[in-house]
Amino acid sequence: MSGKVWGKRFAGRTAVPALERYNASIGEDAFLLQAEMEASRAYALGLSSAGVLDGDEAAAVLRGLAAVGRRLAAGEDLSRFEDVHSAVELLLIEEAGEPGRKLHTGRSRNEQVVTDERLFLKSALPAAAGAVADVQKALLALAESAPAAVMPGYTHLQRGQPVLFTHYALSFVWALERGKDRIADAARRLDVCPLGSGALAGSTVPLDRDALRVELGFAGLTENSIDAVADRSFILESLGALGLVLLDLSRLAEDLIIFASAEFGFIVLADAAATSSSLMPQKKNPDVLELLRAAPGRLFAHYARLFMVLKGTPWSYNKDLQEDKEPLRRGVEDALRALEAAAAAVRCVRPVPERMAAAIDPSIFATDLADVLVERGVAFREAHGVAAEAVRLAESSGRRLDGLKPDEFRGLHAALAALPAGLFDPRRSIERKKTAGSTNPEMVRRQLKKARALVDGSG
Ligand code: ARG
Repeated sequence: MSGKVWGKRFAGRTAVPALERYNASIGEDAFLLQAEMEASRAYALGLSSAGVLDGDEAAAVLRGLAAVGRRLAAGEDLSRFEDVHSAVELLLIEEAGEPGRKLHTGRSRNEQVVTDERLFLKSALPAAAGAVADVQKALLALAESAPAAVMPGYTHLQRGQPVLFTHYALSFVWALERGKDRIADAARRLDVCPLGSGALAGSTVPLDRDALRVELGFAGLTENSIDAVADRSFILESLGALGLVLLDLSRLAEDLIIFASAEFGFIVLADAAATSSSLMPQKKNPDVLELLRAAPGRLFAHYARLFMVLKGTPWSYNKDLQEDKEPLRRGVEDALRALEAAAAAVRCVRPVPERMAAAIDPSIFATDLADVLVERGVAFREAHGVAAEAVRLAESSGRRLDGLKPDEFRGLHAALAALPAGLFDPRRSIERKKTAGSTNPEMVRRQLKKARALVDGSG
């Protein structure tokens, strides 16, 4: 059988192989086969309810589709077909004969392709969200693995203020929670059934669109047949949501790479997450983390590619839209691969609290020193200046901030005549934080509980 569903349009058309090959999407859309089969089955039921197929014909079509399913499972070669939609229809005709020729009544590939893509994402996005939840689980375990560890918190990659390592690890759990939320949001918006839209104007068959929706498990219906066949923003939204998750993970990966360096030593990576050098035998390279650092580039490329295809393309269906296949398939695949690796890599991280503690240079308590002055009635701007002077004095005399003598502190400001006990103690510093969401150990305990409930609840 010819691989065309529109073969009768031209008399004596001579196919030019280069053009046939270029026009076909079968090389890229086979990932939609399962959805296409499901949608075809639902459509056959719809045609039967609409009286287009009588009982025997409907039964023949359903049997035929089951036979097609078996051929596909056995690895049927589809290369002779133009696309996945033609493939299923033409194979059905081979299997079911005449009744199979009725399946396309009132139907268009323009609506089929978006139905398939939406069905594909309806199962792919929850899988991706599950993979994100697994990364969260790994991060929670990491956060709980060193509850007492205090590390320097960084801004500008300069030591800022002490924070609990648990607080640091949990920060990514919240970033990923937003990521899951974006994925769920994209999944919710794309959950509408386009079937019944025809090529762009709707169908002459009195299809019960709601029954088709229920059969395929969609939450709602597209409201406008032109919009239904034109829209691809649902793919961009999905890629965008996945891309933002990888973007946050790329920043986590970069931090872990830095923390695993000999200079920092805040974490040790299990050997499983490392490779060595073909030349330098001492090397322990964080290759997987580096690949995760690079991973958003892929999603951005898929997003940008489809974005460019859509820009300025006439509304409704145009063949340009066929170019959405690879960004969609590869975007989902790339995201899932990266997420799986991210969860595994985080499970290979072991915190080293001693190295974190050793990196807490007392100058990190300059803000705490200013806070002491504020507590003693000095305006913050003045207090900041006094603490800065203390830092300069220590720096210029080659001492640490806690090495200044009592009379030097007093000389800087009368209110510093006696320093509170534990001013240069990291633990006391974090305990002095009072706000909800801060690194105060009590707040972190509450945060951890909340995050735990959230992640355990998400299954
Ligand atoms: N393979 C096509 C695609 O992916 C299916 C829709 C074809 N429609 C058409 N009018 N040629 O976009």
